[in-house]
Amino acid sequence: MSRRWSTLVDRALEASVVGSFTKIGSSLRAQGEEWADPEHLVGRRVVITGATSGIGLAAALRMARLGAHVHLVGRNPQKLRNAEHQVAAVSEGDVHSHLCDFSRCHDTRALAAELRLSDFRIDVLVHNAGALLSDFTLTSEGVETTVATHLLNPYLLTEALLASGTLASTGRVITMSSGGMYTQRANVDALEMTATGYSGSVAYARAKRAQTLLSQYWTRRYGSTGRGFHVVHPGWVDTPGVDDGLPLFSKVMGPLLRSPDQGADTLVWLAGQADGEPASGQFWHDRHPRSLYRVANTRLSPDQEVECGNAIATWCDRKIAAVFAAK
Ligand SMILES: NC(=O)c1ccc[n+]([C@@H]2O[C@H](COP(=O)([O-])OP(=O)(O)OC[C@H]3O[C@@H](n4cnc5c(N)ncnc54)[C@H](OP(=O)(O)O)[C@@H]3O)[C@@H](O)[C@H]2O)c1
Repeated sequence: MSRRWSTLVDRALEASVVGSFTKIGSSLRAQGEEWADPEHLVGRRVVITGATSGIGLAAALRMARLGAHVHLVGRNPQKLRNAEHQVAAVSEGDVHSHLCDFSRCHDTRALAAELRLSDFRIDVLVHNAGALLSDFTLTSEGVETTVATHLLNPYLLTEALLASGTLASTGRVITMSSGGMYTQRANVDALEMTATGYSGSVAYARAKRAQTLLSQYWTRRYGSTGRGFHVVHPGWVDTPGVDDGLPLFSKVMGPLLRSPDQGADTLVWLAGQADGEPASGQFWHDRHPRSLYRVANTRLSPDQEVECGNAIATWCDRKIAAVFAAK
């Protein structure tokens, strides 16, 4: 498909949610003449959380095939070993595993220390771990689990790797958000839900929305150093996470859901772009930057985005300090 046609097809798909988010979107867009594997993954060192299943495992396999050194992060030792075997079987580079419950700040701080003590720099950090929970739960550190896994610990790991210089000077951080975030307006005061009136899908959408503003914050704070911060939404993907979190949706949409490899495509493509490309701070789906808004009453002005992104970082700093201060 020529570039002109693929632009028209992309716009038509983007105008319809179902066309864009399902495998119809990824299959049609992949017909474009520019849709090749990224060329710059050879020798890059990639750390990916949530690498034991679904999109994270698919991304790890593809990046390993394309020549990256891959560090798999997971919380379940058996699943981590299985993932390492699978990735090592196709890998051109070296493969490492790191055990970490990414909802716990103590685990994440230990992971940051482990990575810092190694004699390499990380080129790509992928925040992919996550789940849509049906019930309110607190982590063993007393933080609501959704916000802990999707926001607090990605913030902690990113800041720790930046502070120690473990993220390469041309490194990039890619966060796996969700189209679900379109349903929620950013609101720092409502970031951490309580048991009263808890809704797993609202908590999830708020955390995913906050990820986009945090990535903009990192771009303002660190973007001039040559590092890039990107957020992706993968569309609707057939994974154990969707089966568990949204069983009815998974059943109804089953035939239209993307494969994990299709869901991982934009993440892998971003990881494999040339140094300094693409521009930092954008929200991506199917290799194109997308609007942060689809619903009018969720829209923030550029000034409000800045204010909210700064407030989210402050919220994370305070929460992390409180976790480490507690006995
Ligand atoms: N599938 C979709 O349609 C879709 C749509 C939008 C966004 N996403 C996002 O894509 C990402 C991957 O999800 P998926 O659909 O591929 O689901 P998945 O197959 O369930 O994979 C999720 C991964 O995250 C890990 N994880 C969850 N909580 C963790 C924790 N506390 N500590 C460490 N690891 C943890 C899981 O580990 P275990 O294997 O040990 O459970 C698993 O490896 C998530 O951030 C999700 O929100 C998915």
